Amino acid sequence: MKKGKEETSSHRIVTTDDAEVSAYLEIAKELQGVQAAPKPGEVFHGEKEAIAIIDFGSQYSHLIARRVRECNVYCELFPHDAPLKQIMSIHPRGFILSGGPASVYEKKAPLTPVGVYESHLPVLGICYGMQLITHQLGGKVAPGAKREYGPAVLHVSDERSPLFKGLPESLSVWMSHGDQVIDMPPGFKSSAYTENSPNAVISDGRKSFGLQFHPEVAHTPEGINIIKNFLYRVCGCKGTWTPGNFINESINSIREQVRRGKVICALSGGVDSAVAAKLVHAAIGDQLTCIFVNNGLLRREEPERALNTFRKNLRMKVVYVDATDQFLKKLKGVTDPEQKRKHIGQEFIKVFERQATKLGKIDFLTQGTLYPDVIESATPESKAAAKIKTHHNVGGLPAKMALTLIEPLRYLFKDEVRRVGLELGLPDDMVWRQPFPGPGLAIRIIGEVNRDKLEILRGADWIVMNEIKKAKLYREMWQTFAILTDVHSVGVMGDFRTYGYLVALRAVTSQDAMTADWARLPYPLLATISNRIVNEVHGVNRVVYDITSKPPSTIEWE
Ligand code: XMP
Repeated sequence: MKKGKEETSSHRIVTTDDAEVSAYLEIAKELQGVQAAPKPGEVFHGEKEAIAIIDFGSQYSHLIARRVRECNVYCELFPHDAPLKQIMSIHPRGFILSGGPASVYEKKAPLTPVGVYESHLPVLGICYGMQLITHQLGGKVAPGAKREYGPAVLHVSDERSPLFKGLPESLSVWMSHGDQVIDMPPGFKSSAYTENSPNAVISDGRKSFGLQFHPEVAHTPEGINIIKNFLYRVCGCKGTWTPGNFINESINSIREQVRRGKVICALSGGVDSAVAAKLVHAAIGDQLTCIFVNNGLLRREEPERALNTFRKNLRMKVVYVDATDQFLKKLKGVTDPEQKRKHIGQEFIKVFERQATKLGKIDFLTQGTLYPDVIESATPESKAAAKIKTHHNVGGLPAKMALTLIEPLRYLFKDEVRRVGLELGLPDDMVWRQPFPGPGLAIRIIGEVNRDKLEILRGADWIVMNEIKKAKLYREMWQTFAILTDVHSVGVMGDFRTYGYLVALRAVTSQDAMTADWARLPYPLLATISNRIVNEVHGVNRVVYDITSKPPSTIEWE
């Protein structure tokens, strides 16, 4: 075989290593059998109906995965340099190649793993992914006359294309690219065009497709249907990835893993730990003990409500520890946000360990780790964003306890966790609870944290929550909360001068907290919240609304 190139009946492949090619071709051969239709009653967890998304570093790669899951098809995201064996281990029915910042003609441009095209499974290339298909299969990509960024109108010229079945002939799409497909690879033709891109969609008419635009973003309204067409019409998926199937399969695998062992789980009151615990409880019942640590930094009535749900409604074994004094003592005099996080994280581990020891021999620890965290930790160092804040520092595994981890939500996105939670019978208000940071109110009090300030903030937070829920905006918002600043300002109440705290309101919309926009709350609602806070919360005489987005701000103030 000639080094660097290999001819197959339909593809010309650019690669670097002959041995690698032969090894991968072996794997590709094995793959021929995995496309068999599922038998009725079979449960799919990656085994049969899965899609492998190869990530070339696009900011939208997570979104592709979410869209595929929204179509009830299981998928996993793999870095472009992941070993092919790992990619194939989920037995994909097709591949999606993501976009990315590179240009295919750059020297070190990341390439599609060898074996993907040879597998003869369907491939959908998006933006850079499309350019890769072109480049690797013998076409030509070159810089466009101008960068195309923003909305464009796509005209479908191949009415028989399965990707556009049932869709209008002209659709709005979102472009973000500099390079263009100039010559198509042999056997490919253009299926759609825009004003600036004659080859906005290319296809070999059967299994390989390239899209110059981004179907995964909300700005391409029919994007989800294009993806669905690829999954259902091209890859032959049926949409079997459902909460019910996931639960059944998880229960079986948890039982198999735990057998007669003992499991502990830290509950935070949040949806992730709640769903993880409920799932494990459904599998092994009272072999699971949950530990709920009240760090004194929770919102009003939060510990009571959570305990009530777990113990009374869900009949789970929960050890409750009120460690408020211990945490507040540790936080005395601490003003730096990262120091607060560090102290809270360390105290949590101490309390948790002490309680766990009292339970005797424990074998497993359950955690509500979600897929975005897994993806993030698999990101190469070079790509990882600079650390702005130390998140997820509460609930971490105390290293010396040496427990085996059970992470049943490891491959789920937040919206899937919610669907699973509802299916498991968790109450609505727990499932739909807005995210709340591990260090709690401590990072919403600027400066030192103490009991008085916590009480003031709890009062303001209670009113915000109450009014947002009354206005039926709670679920629409990613987070809505109050911040107690360290600013005092002059006010007048009745005939008296006041010198009180400034409270800030924060309400943001977001998909995943990576970016967020400040919410355009109605003025009358802002007025009500402000009025109630200054009238009902002693010590506060001024309320302001935070109108910055993320970036450049962050969601929390600390
Ligand atoms: P930022 O403030 O970075 O927050 O825009 C993004 C999301 O993360 C939450 N957050 C935290 N969660 N421990 C957590 O468990 C933390 O230390 C922490 N800091 C921020 C924040 O509420 C938002 O949802």
